[in-house]
Amino acid sequence: MHHRFFVILLVVGTFGYLGFKSYTPLEVDQNTPLSLLVNELEGKTPLHTKRKTSDKEIIQRGYDLVHEGRAKGPDGKMSSKQSKHFTCRSCHNVVQEDPSLGNPNPEARLKYAVEKNLPFLQGTTLWGIVNREHWYNGDYFKKYGSLVDPARDTLENAVQLCAVQCSQGRAYEEWEMEAVMAYLWSLELKISDLGLKESDLSELNKAVSGDAGAKTAALKMLKSKYMTASPATFKYPWKGMPVKNGEGGNTENGKNIYKKSCMHCHKQGGFTNFTLDISKLDLKLLANNVEKDNDFSVYWITRLGTHPIPGYKPYMPHYPLERLSDQQIEDLVAYIKANN
Ligand code: HEC
Ligand code: HEC
Repeated sequence: MHHRFFVILLVVGTFGYLGFKSYTPLEVDQNTPLSLLVNELEGKTPLHTKRKTSDKEIIQRGYDLVHEGRAKGPDGKMSSKQSKHFTCRSCHNVVQEDPSLGNPNPEARLKYAVEKNLPFLQGTTLWGIVNREHWYNGDYFKKYGSLVDPARDTLENAVQLCAVQCSQGRAYEEWEMEAVMAYLWSLELKISDLGLKESDLSELNKAVSGDAGAKTAALKMLKSKYMTASPATFKYPWKGMPVKNGEGGNTENGKNIYKKSCMHCHKQGGFTNFTLDISKLDLKLLANNVEKDNDFSVYWITRLGTHPIPGYKPYMPHYPLERLSDQQIEDLVAYIKANN
């Protein structure tokens, strides 16, 4: 009889223990990683979660790949450059770039870039990119169609697409992908990044152990505080489109755009052979072309960029409206015209 009693005790004990473990609700505080809370409320985890690691060596390799374009592999050998022309940092920040995560816009972003001394770029920041749910949205999806299909819902594919298409380089090998994803995970959002009120926090804490309705409401609130996808609206210039030629533009903003954006790539030692300086000569070249319908007119070059041509691969990505507004282009024109 005795052994049966022990078996029952063991079974009850084990289930009790497991039950206790799995029912410990997540305690949400400012340090809680956002993904942990979202996964808990949704009851599922996105595919790229499997790449999350605290292994510092792997994260460092990812850092090196994103920042320098190469890294020492697990075999101790230095990899070849992922791209001859760019690193991921040519077009993406790796820190917060929008003062309000729930309401990103180019005006507030430019001000923030000046305050924090950050570049102002066409690509969105890689900070918090693991917390997004879709990539290459809006017109990127419309424009690139089937190329974007596999990258739309899968972060690893989005990374690979940008490595090959945006960076004009080679695809990452498996160990490199593991490292880059580990590094991107190290840039994930925390609850403290969302600027929540105490009352929001307690709502979230209640929802974690609440019913489905409470969870849905909490997710809705949570996802209004940051972007689960970056929208992108393209504008195609046309001959004779109405522009102000800089009239009434803010030259201070224009100067900041020129320095934080254009010169990031066009300065000597930047990412192109076509160098631009704040010299009168370079500004004159741009000023002389403002009113023309060609690649050297800032109205055209900003919205269309350039295309990589066979044998010559550095190209200029264009700015969607969410990354540079029409008014900001006028500000840039005003600056260029006033300073040559
Ligand atoms: C020449 C510019 C350029 C380079 C270099 C570049 N990117 Fe991008 N990338 C872009 C642009 C433009 C987009 C589309 C806008 C955006 O960020 O959402 C983009 C999009 C992405 C996206 C999807 C973002 C989203 O939310 O839709 C990921 C992921 C990405 N890039 C990763 C990388 C990585 C990793 C590297 C380095 C291997 C890299 N990119 C290099 C310009 C670039
Ligand atoms: C992410 C990097 C990057 C940024 C930011 C950038 N450019 Fe470019 N731009 C390029 C590259 C690459 C080329 C290709 C030319 C080359 O390398 O020879 C180019 C070409 C140009 C050209 C020449 C077009 C042609 O047909 O040769 C102009 C004019 C220009 N850019 C202006 C600007 C202005 C103005 C800004 C700021 C609003 C800007 N660029 C921002 C990378 C950039």
